Amino acid sequence: LKILVVNGPNLNMLGKREPERYGTQSLNDILTALHATAQQHNVVLTDIQSNSEAELINAIHAAWQQIDAIIINPAAFTHTSVALRDALLSVAIPFFEVHLTNVHARESFRHHSYFSDVAQAVICGLGARGYEAALFGAIDLLQNKD
Ligand code: DQA
Repeated sequence: LKILVVNGPNLNMLGKREPERYGTQSLNDILTALHATAQQHNVVLTDIQSNSEAELINAIHAAWQQIDAIIINPAAFTHTSVALRDALLSVAIPFFEVHLTNVHARESFRHHSYFSDVAQAVICGLGARGYEAALFGAIDLLQNKD
């Protein structure tokens, strides 16, 4: 199984960025643990973080017919990006939308997502654990399929 993890803008600042809200782990800490879990389950995990919408779109396009599932935290692009939504639909890869925080308990502009209605699942408010939950969800999905 091949799974791609996509992290959007400002997530490179995790650990430094509003730690009371987003936690003290860096993105690297989160991904290191996720890679270890993936390896234990024979999943080949690749990841990308970018602050650029274009780079994220290009990474999703490159996943076409290469990747079985995507775990994505689109960060602020969640609430703005039709283009990123269309990229995910264009490659037709099932994806799991993750947010560290419970976006529904925050400002109203965070309540709408351009991704949730076409996501396989949406996980928010579990902190870094959300990525792990998405990984197990993706493994379950892919194993039941094959
Ligand atoms: C976020 C929530 C978004 O509203 C915000 O713009 C982020 C992070 C989260 O993981 O909780 O950058 O996606």
